Order: sequence, then C-alpha cells, then structure tokens
Amino acid sequence: MTDIAPALPADAAPLPGGSSMPLLGFGTWQITGEDAVRATAAALEAGYRHLDTATVYGNEAEVGRALADSGVARDHVFITTKCPPNRAGRERETLEQSLEALRTDHVDLWLIHWPGDGAVNSDIWRAFVEARDAGLAREIGVSNFDVALLDEVTGATDVVPAVNQIEWSPFLFDSATLDAHRERGIVLEGYSALRGGTLDDPAIGALAERLGRTPAQVIIRWHLQHGVVVIPKSVHADRIRSNADVAGFSLSDGDMAAIDALRR
Ligand SMILES: NC(=O)c1ccc[n+]([C@@H]2O[C@H](COP(=O)([O-])OP(=O)(O)OC[C@H]3O[C@@H](n4cnc5c(N)ncnc54)[C@H](OP(=O)(O)O)[C@@H]3O)[C@@H](O)[C@H]2O)c1
Repeated sequence: MTDIAPALPADAAPLPGGSSMPLLGFGTWQITGEDAVRATAAALEAGYRHLDTATVYGNEAEVGRALADSGVARDHVFITTKCPPNRAGRERETLEQSLEALRTDHVDLWLIHWPGDGAVNSDIWRAFVEARDAGLAREIGVSNFDVALLDEVTGATDVVPAVNQIEWSPFLFDSATLDAHRERGIVLEGYSALRGGTLDDPAIGALAERLGRTPAQVIIRWHLQHGVVVIPKSVHADRIRSNADVAGFSLSDGDMAAIDALRR
C-alpha cells in the first residue's frame, strides 16, 4: 500500500504536547485475532490514520502487525491505547507491554481506561505524567471520567488530561458536558457513536435519505462538526470505508440542532 491516504476529513484537535489528533479514528474493541489484523489493515487502506486500542482489548499485537505490514509510516498514524486501573503500581510495565505489542517506541495517546476506586486515580495519573515525560506517550488522558474526577486528577498534579474518552452519541448529547471539557481545554472523544439505536432512529434516517448519505455517516459527520473525536468500529471493509467517507458533505446548523435535540 502507498502511504497516500484517500481523502478523509482533515479535521484534527490540537493537543497540549503539540501533536494533532485526527477527529476521525478507527475503533477496535471486540475485534481480535486475524479479524483485528484484517480490519486494521482495511482501515489503514481506507485512509484512517488514527487507531484506538487498549490493553484489555487483547488486540494490540494484531493492530501493530497490521500497521507494520501496511507500509504506512508509523509517524503518519495516531495510536491510542489504554491502561486499566487494576494495573495501578504497574503502569510503566503495562505501557511497555503495549509498546512491544504495537511495535512502537511511543504511543500518541495513553488513557486511564476507566476510573479506579478512591485516590488511586491520582496515583495512576502521576505515573502517566512520568511516562509522558519519559517520552513513552506523547499525550496522556483518561476515559469514562466525569468532570469532578477530571478536576481531581488535575488538582493532584497540575497536569490536565489532554483527552477524555466517553460514551457519546446523538441520544447522549449534552452541551453542558461538551462545554465543561472545552472550558478545561480537554478534548472530548466519543465512543460507541453507532450503538444505542441511533442508526435506526427515524429522524437520523430521514436526514440521511435527504442528504443521500448513510445514518452512520450522518452521525459521524455530526461528531466532526461538534469538534468531537469519533472512532467508529466495524469488521466489514465496506462499512469501514463508508464510515470514513464523510468529507464531501456537511450538516446545516438546522440539521445539527435537530440531531442535538435527539438527546434522551
Ligand atoms: N473507553 C471505553 O471504555 C470504550 C468503550 C467502548 C468503546 N470504545 C472505543 O470506541 C470504539 C467504537 O465504539 P464501539 O466499538 O462500541 O462501536 P461503534 O463504533 O458504536 O459501532 C457499533 C457497531 O455498529 C456496527 N457498524 C459500524 N459501522 C456501521 C455502518 N456503517 N452501518 C451499520 N452498522 C455499522 C458495527 O458492527 P460491525 O463490526 O458488524 O460492522 C459495530 O459493532 C471501540 O471500538 C473502542 O475503540 C471505548
């Protein structure tokens, strides 16, 4: 494969360490074994330059293999992985295992996968700051944190998480949450964009039909226009391609407001 990516949306979020996070990435949860190699390869072929994995997904080695075999330069791909909180005290070892599996000397973003109990989050966050300072992770962030927890880890270290990856979709839209992240300079990254029934929602369906697009494309486009990172997952190459084909249309302010209003 050449390293010339097909036209994906160029939207990206600047991160505090100076890097830039493509707003559209490829999610790999529940894809393992050869399926993970095939799906990641298909995503890279389709032009995705942002991959989302995690220690607990059990597919970092497959993601790393697909990237190594793709011919796409490591520097052209933004890689996120995540550390589960039960690795508290063994964060560095966990990251080193991720790096080995992914065949890289650093990740672009390392996240605390979900909050641990009590004060452990600040301890983990201190270890994350050390790993970042050692160059093993360009940027560090969290996942599944509420605003109070974001402030707690920030207060413990004076280091603000670059990103918070949380569940986000039209049914979960909440402008107060979006604003709270913006005010803190934290990039909101959404996950499970296509779950929860939104693909079958009649309003999304009607909008997609009017625009000559798929419901998934409308939902992905809605994320991009909100400046929210979106990481759709699929094991099907045609869906992987189609989910990335969202640069050639836009949603009007009215369309955006109508999707925002689907919040339940
Ligand atoms: N931090 C966390 O705690 C957390 C939690 C959940 C997810 N995530 C991350 O977020 C990523 C995305 O979330 P997700 O895996 O829950 O799934 P998702 O992106 O919301 O997709 C849900 C399902 O939709 C199907 N799909 C994809 N494209 C489609 C299309 N164009 N038309 C119809 N159906 C389509 C896929 O099935 P097929 O594969 O059969 O196409 C997929 O299983 C994950 O892969 C993971 O990287 C993070």
